Amino acid sequence: MKKRILTLLLAVLLPLTAMADTRIMVATDLHYLAPSLYADSELFQQVIRYGDGKLTQESPALLEALLAEARHQRPDALILTGDLTFNGEKQSHLELAAAMERLWDEGIPVYVIPGNHDIGNPGALAYSAYSYGPTENVTAAEFREIWARCLGPEEPEAGMSFTVSLPGNVRLLMTDVSVYGEDFAPYGLFTDGHARWLAQALAEAEAAGATVITATHQNLLSQTSFSSETYLIRGGERMQAMLAQAGVRLNLSGHIHAQHTMRSGDLTDAATGAYSISPHRWAMVHVAQDGEVRYSAEALCPEHLRAGFPEMSAKFFASVTVIKLRGRLAEADISLEEQEIMLNYAARFNTHFFAGTLDPADPFWTADPGYALWNANRDRLSFGDYMMRNLAYEEALRDAP
Ligand SMILES: [Fe+2]
Repeated sequence: MKKRILTLLLAVLLPLTAMADTRIMVATDLHYLAPSLYADSELFQQVIRYGDGKLTQESPALLEALLAEARHQRPDALILTGDLTFNGEKQSHLELAAAMERLWDEGIPVYVIPGNHDIGNPGALAYSAYSYGPTENVTAAEFREIWARCLGPEEPEAGMSFTVSLPGNVRLLMTDVSVYGEDFAPYGLFTDGHARWLAQALAEAEAAGATVITATHQNLLSQTSFSSETYLIRGGERMQAMLAQAGVRLNLSGHIHAQHTMRSGDLTDAATGAYSISPHRWAMVHVAQDGEVRYSAEALCPEHLRAGFPEMSAKFFASVTVIKLRGRLAEADISLEEQEIMLNYAARFNTHFFAGTLDPADPFWTADPGYALWNANRDRLSFGDYMMRNLAYEEALRDAP
């Protein structure tokens, strides 16, 4: 009797298991900074206030929240697509890698690729109360050693690139195109070596009938109206052509810190917003058994954070925009009253732009008095031009077939 019940249960469970999607959790640009490198530093607080909105001073809370989210989601894999650390500090790498090993121990595999900030970074600094100085960074060999559990076997021709086989016959091609060592640079580089590695990985996936997802740090497709070459992969057209040829539909990237996706033919490059800035984006990729791929951007769940954290973080992000622009408006002899209107508009713009929620059809963007003021001054205030161009760009994208 017992045996029959067991068989029945298996019969019910097996089709369900077979039908389950493969789930890949994605986070990028964590820019984790070990607390010992900035604790109690007044100077560091200043640096951060004049920075790009990264909530680096909350590195431990953000890391714990990411671990909690991963434990809650229990994906088939968590991948971190580069810029793991603030500026490549060895101590930051050690702490973050140790945290990811805890997830491995709990049955959640974690895979990483380095970003442009992670290896051989001359900007690795430690802050004391009112001063700062260099701290140890990592070489490529040290990176490999620290992150051994989250990397694949060495591919001398393609940096830290490697293939991961996931349940449901999904192949994840972690493609490291970052430039480190002596040529340290922000852009990505897809070399002949990368092409040979990718060709082989794609051929093996095809032979296995696998669904392929690729991941890079830098963008494969141009994401914004101001995408400079520092955001992109040099030689990326070649990678794009190889992926299109192989029928790959999704590349996962980051680097620009804004949440944004672009399509070229059947290939989508999904740039997940930086985890280090409000609203602390991460994403989930679902791969169905029939090969259908779905990408969804998420924001960090407040449940994993102390009360008031999301509001504090959003305020901090807006304040960074305001601090950056206030001086320029004052220099341009704009009245205090008009400054207030323009700063409100700019802070709101940046908040939506980076969160990936900028809707050009929202009447606010042209009806608010801030629009007229920025538009009238766009020739002498480049931020006005930046906002107007992006609104027009998003509108054109929305209207594209
Ligand atoms: Fe980056």
